[in-house]
Amino acid sequence: MQRLEVLARQLTAGAATEDRPPLVRSHEEYQALYKKSIEDPEGFWGEMAQSYHWHTKFPPRGHLTYNTDLRRGPVNIQFFRGGTTNISYNCLDRWVEAGRGESPAILWEGNDESERKTISYRQLLDEVCRIANWLKAHGVKKGDTVTIYLPMVPELPAAMLACARLGAVHSVVFGGFSAESVAQRVMDCNGKIILTATGINRGTKPIGLKTIVDAACALCAKSGHAVASVLCLEVANAVPAAATPWHAGRDEWWAEAVGAQTPDCPPVWLAAEDRSFLLYTSGSTGKPKGVVHSVGGYMVGAGISCRYLYDMRPGDVVFNTADCGWITGHTYLAYGPLLCGVTVVMLGGIPTHPDGGRVWRMVERYKARQFYTAPTLLRSLLQLGDAWPKQSDLSSLRVLASAGEPMNEHAWHWFHETIGNSRCPVVDTWWQTETGMGAIAPQPGPWFQAKAGSAGLPFFGIEPVILDPTTGTEMPGVAAEGVLVLRGVWPAMMRTLHGDHDRFEQVYFAPYKGFYFTGDGCRRDEDGQYWITGRVDDVINVSGHRIGTAEVESALTEHADCAEAAVIGVDHPLKGQAIYAFVTLVGSSHQSEGMRKLLMDHVRKSIGPFAVPDVIHWAPALPKTRSGKIMRRVLRKIASGEEKELGDISTLAEPGVVEMLIRLRGK
Ligand code: PRX
Repeated sequence: MQRLEVLARQLTAGAATEDRPPLVRSHEEYQALYKKSIEDPEGFWGEMAQSYHWHTKFPPRGHLTYNTDLRRGPVNIQFFRGGTTNISYNCLDRWVEAGRGESPAILWEGNDESERKTISYRQLLDEVCRIANWLKAHGVKKGDTVTIYLPMVPELPAAMLACARLGAVHSVVFGGFSAESVAQRVMDCNGKIILTATGINRGTKPIGLKTIVDAACALCAKSGHAVASVLCLEVANAVPAAATPWHAGRDEWWAEAVGAQTPDCPPVWLAAEDRSFLLYTSGSTGKPKGVVHSVGGYMVGAGISCRYLYDMRPGDVVFNTADCGWITGHTYLAYGPLLCGVTVVMLGGIPTHPDGGRVWRMVERYKARQFYTAPTLLRSLLQLGDAWPKQSDLSSLRVLASAGEPMNEHAWHWFHETIGNSRCPVVDTWWQTETGMGAIAPQPGPWFQAKAGSAGLPFFGIEPVILDPTTGTEMPGVAAEGVLVLRGVWPAMMRTLHGDHDRFEQVYFAPYKGFYFTGDGCRRDEDGQYWITGRVDDVINVSGHRIGTAEVESALTEHADCAEAAVIGVDHPLKGQAIYAFVTLVGSSHQSEGMRKLLMDHVRKSIGPFAVPDVIHWAPALPKTRSGKIMRRVLRKIASGEEKELGDISTLAEPGVVEMLIRLRGK
């Protein structure tokens, strides 16, 4: 690697609207960097990590140890061993000390377009220190978990950074989750503190968050778990303080409590392998998994991928529509961009409010260079028509990015042509909560051969392997299709599942020994580009939100009227996938619209509004094999009206069930 040359280019600040050469200027240069990252991960990432401040340096050699092969012992991954650092220092203090304190770190707009805030790096650092001091005053120390249940306000990334400053482990819970889901996540990590807000407006709808937190605390108390403190931010024009329920002794108002703290709080220097945060995500079984990320590895993976995949450089303006409740908000709205010294544009309402021009006006207003979104939002914006983007000047855009779910060709072309005027690369990034950083993505340089719908090339450190799903053997040749697994390790990789290292090993490393199992299917074309074909496990992706079918099933069967449920994902024009539930009622219950509503409300209460099934299909019985296994393949065909292609159903215990379900479709 032409190390100095590359590093020198990385550090060059580019004016936001000025053209500049990409960091990686040719396919050959990409290949050389990629090859080094695979052949010598320790050397490669050791050099990349030099972009950040290390309080104690790690040794150039011997800092990486790992085992991902269960046949050789427990799974264990350690990067930058011996080094100490702090992510919040690298996101904030480093820029303030370099004289960029007055540059905007966050440009925020609320639900109402006239509600705007500019927060400089200096101001953000002050707020982070105040929150950290409040946390300290409440006994929070390194390793303790803090639950954050906040809407998309600047205080949300600030709270994350405040935890990171102390080495406290944050668990951000998406604002769409119900009280039961919040309680489950608080108890799983023994959380004593919750940071929240009175509520938020989403479009024309005010949503009370504090009431949900109160209900969650009550549920925790019922199970013998006490939440000691709740810090509540007043979002006055959504839910005013006066309308907010209050528990004296436990609850504190943000403005007073945080405002009373000093804006100085030295960062705690943390070992590279200390925990940075955990984030719950869905898997094939009912219980959400607390994915644990490290301090050093996550930081390097987040920062370096922002630079090489989205070309973020100091002073750029990056608009990301993601919510910090999901991994994209962590890596590509909060941590990664601030590590790059950019200005982050953040939207607190729904992006189509008040109309289809909102996000495009924001691109124009702030001269965003990078625009990061999800295919679901693109599909909704596209439906609203070309007149909206045409009303705004989008000429500042240089990189268009997307993640979370497959992007259909139509959306890709609209993004590329209508939004990017055919001159911006579309970086459709494949990654996961578990990978921590973009893993397979198109390169943003003009040399990259873009293909609509392809996730492109592996990012540094990622070695995709395609396996035959039945034999588990590697598919030969460049062009291949099968199950996607990854060989080796990369710094931002998850380290364990909170409280369950055994489950971590069983879910990710047991299915195909020696590899990390992604849960996705994939095709590699003759040019070596990857095409994600969707989940091969029981996880569905609704509007970019990952939901385990088992979670929805267990929410349904918790209801007294539901005897059994089988949930599948079906194609949906806007959401990507929709939730489709086959429900068997207990003998005495009636199939009625009222019953449908009851069951839907129950899922809303149990998980959250985004997990409510779009369709409930009554199923007096479910198609099962003689050993009692539900044949989901058959259910998928029935749901999508493809019963002529049912395939082999000779193993069905009761073949008549299929006919009956077809008759009940739409009833
Ligand atoms: O199935 C893949 C899909 O989303 C899953 C990961 O979901 P989550 O952990 O919530 O992370 C979402 C944000 C990265 C993957 O297993 N997925 C993610 N990105 C893409 C994708 N499917 C197709 N194309 C993508 N670019």
